[in-house]
Amino acid sequence: MLYYNILPLQVLTALLKQLYPIVIKYPHFTVQHSGAYRPNHEFETMKKLLLTTLLAILAMPVAAEPGGAERQQAFKKILQQFEPMGVVVRGRAPYNKADFIQHADALKLAATQPFTLFAPHSIDAKSRAKPEIWSQPAKFQTAKENFLKAVDDLDAAAHNADLATIRKQYDLVSQSCKTCHDSFRGPKV
Ligand code: HEC
Repeated sequence: MLYYNILPLQVLTALLKQLYPIVIKYPHFTVQHSGAYRPNHEFETMKKLLLTTLLAILAMPVAAEPGGAERQQAFKKILQQFEPMGVVVRGRAPYNKADFIQHADALKLAATQPFTLFAPHSIDAKSRAKPEIWSQPAKFQTAKENFLKAVDDLDAAAHNADLATIRKQYDLVSQSCKTCHDSFRGPKV
């Protein structure tokens, strides 16, 4: 997502207001010994410099703070790993240890990603994030830590335990998703 950099523009406008009278008063022409006028190069250079700076700042798009779309995409990557595991623990697909480990490892990698994207006040038109994420930061932090711990335990179980234990750990992760959503995710927008 891109937006145009407004702050430098405001600074520039203020600067131009200061500079404009100076530029205007600056001699536009110099008088040569012969008495002939020729354009003052310093004045021309100053004009070009100001114009180039203005254009450069206007054309400078900067990355916006991540918002709902970026977070939802990061959570969808979690779901991409979590869903196939769910199909296995519910007995709807055969349990293959190597495949299951792959999903559990990938889930662990993906799990932390969305939490790098919760900048303050980043609720936009697409976002389902509730303001409580920022007004109750300790509670949100706990929900996140419980989730990450459950994901770690599920990964450990995938590597070392039997399907019954894996199923229990899977359910704990699933509960941690729900606990957080119940408090911190609003209705569909
Ligand atoms: C600590 C809080 C938290 C945890 C844990 C969490 N989520 Fe979320 N999730 C959110 C929030 C908040 C949003 C909304 C983000 C936004 O729209 O800005 C969200 C959005 C999503 C979305 C995007 C789609 C949509 O319509 O909102 C999916 C998919 C999702 N979560 C799945 C999961 C799954 C699966 C788990 C567990 C494996 C999980 N989440 C764990 C807080 C959490």
